[in-house]
Amino acid sequence: MHAKSVALLNKAVADELSAVHQYMYFHFHCNDQGYDLLAGLFQRTAIEEMLHIEQLSERILFIKGEVKIAASEPVSEIKDVAAMLQKARAMEEGSVRDYNLWANECGAAADSVSKKLFEALVADEERHYDQYDTELENLSKFGDHYLALQSMERSKTRAAMAAAPAP
Ligand SMILES: [Fe+2]
Ligand SMILES: [Fe+2]
Repeated sequence: MHAKSVALLNKAVADELSAVHQYMYFHFHCNDQGYDLLAGLFQRTAIEEMLHIEQLSERILFIKGEVKIAASEPVSEIKDVAAMLQKARAMEEGSVRDYNLWANECGAAADSVSKKLFEALVADEERHYDQYDTELENLSKFGDHYLALQSMERSKTRAAMAAAPAP
């Protein structure tokens, strides 16, 4: 009934899968380099993108489509923190642009529920964009101190855990 919507929703599933893979890759590498704050941000965002996949898939199945589980892009093997944040910010910018367009396309095809879903996702992607943008600003403002502070935070947390009495 809603062939156009199914195609757009599946394109979104593919992009969300790419985001999950990319952010998990960044999460692992930030964790490995000792940047806990950024590692946590990438992990939490990856989980949110996974929840987007769930919402999109539920809608596809409700309108009797088939969910295609295939990422749209391979993972970029970026290890530099500034380049990670730039890549992530560009991905969110792309999602905001696409989901706004696709919301309109679903509306034009008389599928207001899919339209609303895309509009709700735009709000989340704008928030993700803003989070990455803020971290990039911090990085350019504080330079290497920003990363050094994150490493020191990890040492403090580990020291506090070691000092805590056993339950
Ligand atoms: Fe998303
Ligand atoms: Fe996002």
